[in-house]
Amino acid sequence: MKDTGSGIPKESQERVVERFYRVDKSRSKQTGGTGLGLAIVKHIVARHHAQIKLESEEGQGTEITVMFENQIQNA
Ligand SMILES: Nc1ncnc2c1ncn2[C@@H]1O[C@H](COP(=O)(O)OP(=O)(O)O)[C@@H](O)[C@H]1O
Ligand SMILES: [Mg+2]
Repeated sequence: MKDTGSGIPKESQERVVERFYRVDKSRSKQTGGTGLGLAIVKHIVARHHAQIKLESEEGQGTEITVMFENQIQNA
C-alpha cells in the first residue's frame, strides 16, 4: 500500500508497529486513531510467516508491503 501523506520520520519507522505508538502525540485528540492498526497487522503477518517492509520519506509518503516467504527469499 502506498500513500502520498506526511511520511514517517526515520527514528519512528521501527516503532509504528508497537501498540498505541503514534508519531505525533497531539494527533490523539485531533485526528484520533488508536495506534493499534499496524500492531495488529504485525501479528497477522507474523502468523503467515511474512514480513512487513516499510519505506517512508517525510513529506513524501509511505509504502508498506507485506512480503510472503517466496518474496523474502528473492529480496
Ligand atoms: N501511512 C502513514 N503515513 C504517516 N504516518 C503513519 C502512517 N501509518 C501509520 N503512521 C504513524 O504510525 C502511527 C501508528 O499507526 P497505526 O498503527 O496504523 O495506528 P492507527 O490504528 O491509529 O491508524 C500513526 O499514529 C502515525 O503516527
Ligand atoms: Mg493506521
